[in-house]
Amino acid sequence: MSFTQYKPVRTRLQRSELAVPGSNPSMFEKALKSDADYIFLDCEDAVAPDDKEQARKNIIQALNDLDWAGHGKTISVRINGLDTHYMYRDVVDIVEQAGHRLDTILIPKVGTPSDVYMVDCMLTQIEEARKIKNPIGIECLIEIALGMVNVEAIAQSSKRLEALHFGVADFAASCRARTVVIGGLNPDYPGDQWHSSLQRMVIACRAYGIRAIDGPFGDFNDPEGYTAAAMRAAALGYEGKWAIHPSQIALANEVMSPPPKEVERAKRILAAMDEAAKAGKGAVVLDGRMIDLASSRMAENVVRMANVIDAKAKK
Ligand code: GLV
Ligand code: MG
Repeated sequence: MSFTQYKPVRTRLQRSELAVPGSNPSMFEKALKSDADYIFLDCEDAVAPDDKEQARKNIIQALNDLDWAGHGKTISVRINGLDTHYMYRDVVDIVEQAGHRLDTILIPKVGTPSDVYMVDCMLTQIEEARKIKNPIGIECLIEIALGMVNVEAIAQSSKRLEALHFGVADFAASCRARTVVIGGLNPDYPGDQWHSSLQRMVIACRAYGIRAIDGPFGDFNDPEGYTAAAMRAAALGYEGKWAIHPSQIALANEVMSPPPKEVERAKRILAAMDEAAKAGKGAVVLDGRMIDLASSRMAENVVRMANVIDAKAKK
């Protein structure tokens, strides 16, 4: 291990992240009662310009009136981008009036670490002025080419930063990729056209101790396509995926939870390595395969996630 280490900033279960437009309050109650681990109330792209002010008001009311924490939800708000005049009011109004009920702010279309710096600075001032005790976390969407170019710097831009999200739709637009669909494979491409970007982002996240979350899959009538995309992300180290429709919540929870067989094998690896340590051995054979301390580290990741999931289920 390097002498320089960035510890995981914060563990939160974020297998499924339900996107809820702030302009549609009829969906708030359903979101509250859903099985999503995480919910973000949206001020940004799911809200038309004429509805922005009302959406902000709806969000403030929903944060104050609904018991998100009591329903086991982490609650976040996606503000508008820093290139819009809506953004400062999103932060000021929402955090001043409901910041004590908010877990994180999701910043879209982050391009440079300064974008995060600005929101961090505003949050710090408002929290101090309003005596908000729990610091609000920051999450960023990596969804423009500039953000991907700077992803390593963005991943270390603030102590508040908890997660980066891969926003495949805007990323496709920003790269002028030949597609008009949100997520999924392009048959013209041999493999996953998003692979290198997904890989780059997850490495940046893990280097600096933050979570990596996969973004939307637009075709909610294609559960197989959704599941396949989630599995590709999970294989790389992503720990959650957006749900843009309630039907995608269960799919995300399923894919992003280590299967019982995997948990059982991980526990057996840890037990076998304990025995190996007692016998003064670094490597042993389990089920016909060599395992060593690197196997223990992989197994610990699986068991840690399974424990967090169990703890939530018991609440
Ligand atoms: C999400 O915001 C995306 O653009 O995919
Ligand atoms: Mg986007």
